[in-house]
Amino acid sequence: MEEMEETLRELEVWLQEALAAADSVSAVEALRVATLGKKGRLTTILKNLSRLSTAERARQGAAANILKKKAIHLIQKRRSTLQKAELDASIVVERIDTTLSARPEQVGRIHPVSQTLDEIMAIFGWMGFAAVEGPDIEDDFHNFTALNIPPGHPARQMHDTFYLPERADGTRFLLRTHTSPVQIRVLEKEQPPIHIIAPGRVYRRDSDMTHTPMFHQVEGLVIDNTINVGHMKNCISLFINSFFEQNDIQVRFRPSFFPFTVLSMEIDVSYLCKNNEETCNTSESWLEIIGCGMVHSHVLTSCGLDPERWQGFAFGMGVERLAMLKYGIPDLRTFYEPDLRWLQHYGFLFMDVPSVSGRR
Ligand code: DAH
Repeated sequence: MEEMEETLRELEVWLQEALAAADSVSAVEALRVATLGKKGRLTTILKNLSRLSTAERARQGAAANILKKKAIHLIQKRRSTLQKAELDASIVVERIDTTLSARPEQVGRIHPVSQTLDEIMAIFGWMGFAAVEGPDIEDDFHNFTALNIPPGHPARQMHDTFYLPERADGTRFLLRTHTSPVQIRVLEKEQPPIHIIAPGRVYRRDSDMTHTPMFHQVEGLVIDNTINVGHMKNCISLFINSFFEQNDIQVRFRPSFFPFTVLSMEIDVSYLCKNNEETCNTSESWLEIIGCGMVHSHVLTSCGLDPERWQGFAFGMGVERLAMLKYGIPDLRTFYEPDLRWLQHYGFLFMDVPSVSGRR
């Protein structure tokens, strides 16, 4: 029986030394398994107790159980010491020096179109509009017919549409030529009052100094039961002043025609060139930036709304145009040339998050 006591003492010494030498939490875990695991040394001793006589089993059993408690305690103690050391080490290694200035040039720039879209959305968000999206690939009904542009209507030709191949049933999808179909998608699904903007890409077969085959628009739609032209004028003027961060900007509402609106207008802003000489050649010029009007009753009825009860206004604006004007970018095509120097020059830092409260 001395033999067993000897074994227990040996085991204790071995465990203490091994724990002292263990230099990681995983090494401690390996020792725990070697001692207390299913086939661990102490577990084996405890299992073998059954072979002893009752009196011996009681005596040796007590000693073995004392060692078990001690072993658990020693392992736990060593583990927490090492855990703390590992944590301290990782804090040193993973430390971030918050006094170092950020280096935004290493994370690239935000494209002027993204920045301008964010600015537009921040302003309309502040006015209570919700932003929604529609598909880039549209059907004829949403892009044209429901917007009061039936087959054969001359406005269809003006849209220079990209069509997808014809399907078996003779219909063909197209790349949306404007964001106006989102008006229809919203009117089909939602009940007034509606205040939405719909930013997104649009496509036209057109490419020159002032046209690219893909560009961006933001559509707007307001429907309620007391909306009139005054609301439209005010809403758009407020947007323009806020966007250009000036209160004295000159705005001109010019009569125009769109099949899906009545009292249609185009809105020009006057730009007196103060800080960029490139975008203007006379001292005062007007540039068209927004089309708008009161929603045509045909549009409302094609979406199941009663025009006697509901009215509203819609507008659509070209994002690249607004960006060119605000940031003095002279050529539209350069927006989509992958030129990093251009982006370095016209792009924005990632911390330039637009907000209305930050405006003058
Ligand atoms: N969809 C028109 C275009 O692409 C822009 C537009 C004009 C949208 C008037 C409107 C609007 O919602 O009311 O030329």
